[in-house]
Amino acid sequence: MTEIMHNETVDTLLNRRSIRKFKPEPIDDSIIATLETVAQHAASSQFLNDWSAIRISDPAVKRKLAEFGHQPYIADAPLLYVFVLDEHRNASIAAAKGVDTHADAFTLTGSYRFSQAQNDAAFALHAMETAAYSLGLGCVILGSILNDVDGLIDVLHLPEYTYPLLGLAIGKPDQEPALKPRMPRSMQFFENAYPADDAAVLEPLAAFDEEVHQYYDLRNTERPVDAFSDQIAKNAVADMTGRTVGEPAARQGFRLDR
Ligand SMILES: Cc1cc2nc3c(=O)[nH]c(=O)nc-3n(C[C@H](O)[C@H](O)[C@H](O)COP(=O)(O)O)c2cc1C
Repeated sequence: MTEIMHNETVDTLLNRRSIRKFKPEPIDDSIIATLETVAQHAASSQFLNDWSAIRISDPAVKRKLAEFGHQPYIADAPLLYVFVLDEHRNASIAAAKGVDTHADAFTLTGSYRFSQAQNDAAFALHAMETAAYSLGLGCVILGSILNDVDGLIDVLHLPEYTYPLLGLAIGKPDQEPALKPRMPRSMQFFENAYPADDAAVLEPLAAFDEEVHQYYDLRNTERPVDAFSDQIAKNAVADMTGRTVGEPAARQGFRLDR
């Protein structure tokens, strides 16, 4: 097997694992300024910069987000962000230039921009996450806050043409979880085209299932986690009511059918 190369950046990324318990210590302003500036330097589709992030410092709002996510550790995050797809700012800027933002010709609210704004926000979040790890901090990304999208939109006062993407909790780690295994590269990286032979791609799956089953999640140390295949099968039929995007996005002014 080809050996991989190492440097500080590569090792930061290879050692990244979600941290869900934080020391109750505040994060310095200089770190906050660094993380936010790094996030702003991520790539942005068409330079539209169509994302924003809301820093949640109010303990009551943190508790509300923990309630939405059914994850108490959200309330304990010393630094907490919600990244948001944001065409509201661009709509205001365009309107000031005379663009009619409610006309059919206005495309910032269509499905393409929605998906690209989602990418932009995720790249920014990931840049912030990597910078945080490089500074000795730990993070967990939070999709769970989307359990109640309408509640989240309400609590954060998200205006027309915005939509919440993900939360990011950051702090000094107060736990040392093991690195979670990843599937063999051959199952995830293909050459030139998607392979036709599913069975060949999935050949290493049984061994990977076993490897994942050896992993203990610190959220439940009583038993090893389910095999990867079992996790996929379970998630494949998970109830996503409340997390669906179509209707709340339409209420926020997006037209995802366009
Ligand atoms: C989009 C996204 C949403 C996630 N949402 C949550 C979440 O709500 N709560 C949580 O504890 N972890 C969440 N995670 C973390 C994943 O569970 C975690 O990254 C995955 O199990 C791999 O583990 P690792 O990060 O330790 O390598 C999320 C990760 C991503 C990328």
